[in-house]
Amino acid sequence: MNLFRKNCLSCLILIFTFFITISNGATPIAPAGRSYSCSVINDNKLYVFGGDPFGIIGTPQTIYLDISLIGTPNPWYLLSDIPISVSAANTVFNGNNTVFLIFFNTVYAYNISNNQWYPTGSNGIVPQTRTQATAVIDKSGKIWYFGGTNGTTRIYFNDINSFDTSTYTWSFGSTLNAPTSRFSMVSIMLPNGEILYIGGVDGSTRSHINMAQAIDSLIHCHN
Ligand SMILES: *[C@@H]1O[C@H](CO)[C@@H](O)[C@H](O)[C@H]1NC(C)=O
Ligand SMILES: *[C@@H]1O[C@H](CO)[C@@H](O)[C@H](O)[C@H]1NC(C)=O
Ligand SMILES: *[C@@H]1O[C@H](CO)[C@@H](O)[C@H](O)[C@H]1NC(C)=O
Repeated sequence: MNLFRKNCLSCLILIFTFFITISNGATPIAPAGRSYSCSVINDNKLYVFGGDPFGIIGTPQTIYLDISLIGTPNPWYLLSDIPISVSAANTVFNGNNTVFLIFFNTVYAYNISNNQWYPTGSNGIVPQTRTQATAVIDKSGKIWYFGGTNGTTRIYFNDINSFDTSTYTWSFGSTLNAPTSRFSMVSIMLPNGEILYIGGVDGSTRSHINMAQAIDSLIHCHN
């Protein structure tokens, strides 16, 4: 092999390595402990978004852990940063490579396949800005965003708002038979279209809620 060919080969190997690094796109890290982050699971990977690392409010970090390897030496990996630092945001996974993250009243989308964030629009009736709300996504790709608080102005919400992920349009749901205002609860979308809200802090009494309440997303689907 002459010198020229040798150099070409090294060059190709370099380019190849470069592409592998880019396509994997993830750097191993030892993340700081944190609260107020949010997460989704897909394909044996736990993705964690934002949160408050100890002593700091908000981070733009996206990290993941391969949960099939738990129990073996297994690093967290750093992925692309969220476009902004978030704390107490919400994430939902559409089952098809896209994670939607809602922070205050803005929705960001993350493509798991190419590790890229992209903005969504905000058409329709955009909900009032809030934190510590909760979100679920239904089979049709609608996100249901409920409750939360605006800490600054001490407003506590019990309105349900939906965001259509195919048109990026917000709609106001309804407060008909809605649970009382609350924040910091969790929610689960049941197969029959009901959304179950569990726990949280009551907006008027500030007491911790120890029961679950359901809302029917099919009834609350006003446009
Ligand atoms: C998943 O997303 C891809 C690319 O955005 C799209 O072409 C495909 O139709 C989607 N599949 C389903 C089942 O929604
Ligand atoms: C996500 O990335 C994959 C791979 O680049 C691409 O094929 C797909 O269309 C992207 N999906 C969306 C919704 O942009
Ligand atoms: C509370 O409302 C004010 C005024 O609308 C807004 O500037 C602020 O960002 C809100 N805070 C949260 C946490 O939503």
